[in-house]
Amino acid sequence: MSINRNFPALQNDRILKAARGQKPDKIPVWVMRQAGRYLPEFQEFRKQHSFFEICQNPEYACEVTLMPLKRYDLDAAIIFSDILVIPQALGMEVLMKAGVGPVLPEPLTLEKAATFKADGAAKTLEYVGEAINLTRHRLDGKVPIFGFSGAPWTLMSYMIEGGGSKTYSKAKKWLYAHPEQSHSLISILTDVIIDYFVMQIEYGAQIVQLFDSNAEYLNKDLYATFCLPYLKKISVDVRKKLKEKNLEEVPMVLFAKGGWYCLEEQADLGYEVLGIDWTVEPKYVKNLLKNKNVTLQGNLDPTALYAPGADLKKVTQKMLDAFGGDKYIANLGHGIYPDAPIESVNVFIETVHDFIV
Ligand code: CP3
Repeated sequence: MSINRNFPALQNDRILKAARGQKPDKIPVWVMRQAGRYLPEFQEFRKQHSFFEICQNPEYACEVTLMPLKRYDLDAAIIFSDILVIPQALGMEVLMKAGVGPVLPEPLTLEKAATFKADGAAKTLEYVGEAINLTRHRLDGKVPIFGFSGAPWTLMSYMIEGGGSKTYSKAKKWLYAHPEQSHSLISILTDVIIDYFVMQIEYGAQIVQLFDSNAEYLNKDLYATFCLPYLKKISVDVRKKLKEKNLEEVPMVLFAKGGWYCLEEQADLGYEVLGIDWTVEPKYVKNLLKNKNVTLQGNLDPTALYAPGADLKKVTQKMLDAFGGDKYIANLGHGIYPDAPIESVNVFIETVHDFIV
């Protein structure tokens, strides 16, 4: 596989600066799930190609990744892919069904989980690395590119449920009824994620984000038992492996959606940035973590994008006032919705960039 590491010079390093605790000229901003579903040009593209066909073809993935950057003054790109490529790498079938979302026709059983091996799984995802490499060159240094992965618990929960769920009770049942098998599975997923991040960074990812979208279904005890030690291992081992390969360290972002119950613990895991969902008050989290060395990212309610422009501007400014210009990356508090008004994204981004820090 070809990696061209002769990268163009980076012109906009606002996000990287903020992630490392330095003060950029303007508050950096990007939008979770910015590449995709709400963009008419993406919907048009999707008529011609299936979801995973786009993910697996670096030219297509690159084209879709660049779509929001052509429209908006964003401070980062995020590679077009999905968190569920890891279950695929472990041999599970994943379908993307219109109007339903991801479906895993054969949900994970205890027997099947016992056959999983981490070794070599990330290697099958090199097409994501190639898409990152291509996109970083096509970006020509305009903004940095994010790699990403799902976190172990979130991946495990999709694998066991066979898709999305209201309660994730089948996956939570494993934690209570089969703790040993749960630890084994989470441990394998952790190893795959470590290799996957290192591969993404080798191919050119300049920052990576770990999505723990289903943190909200757990509590402090479950998160401490089944998540925190593994999340820590990911941040530690990724850096260790980068060093062994003589690769530069990149900032790491942890977004545990609904993980309000353990923000202080999250701040001690070795991630430079913590994503904050919209249910958390900016002032509360700033105060709670004032002695921790972390940058905060978030947290506008994605539905605020439906407000009239003037109101959207007001709520965005209120959020910026509360977070302040230091150690902060503006974003939504979860992914943008498919029917978000296109123009609102511009209002959001311009309001952030116009804010005097
Ligand atoms: O952020 C980006 O723009 C990059 C691409 C990206 C996608 N999925 C593309 C996608 C990213 C970062 C993801 C992450 C992801 N995928 C998460 C974590 C973030 C979050 O929102 O909590 C999760 C839980 C998934 C799993 C997933 N994939 C779901 C639940 C769905 C269906 C609902 C939805 O989001 O549309 C998907 C499908 C998906 N992933 C689409 C896109 C553009 C839409 C599918 C389509 O085009 O048919």
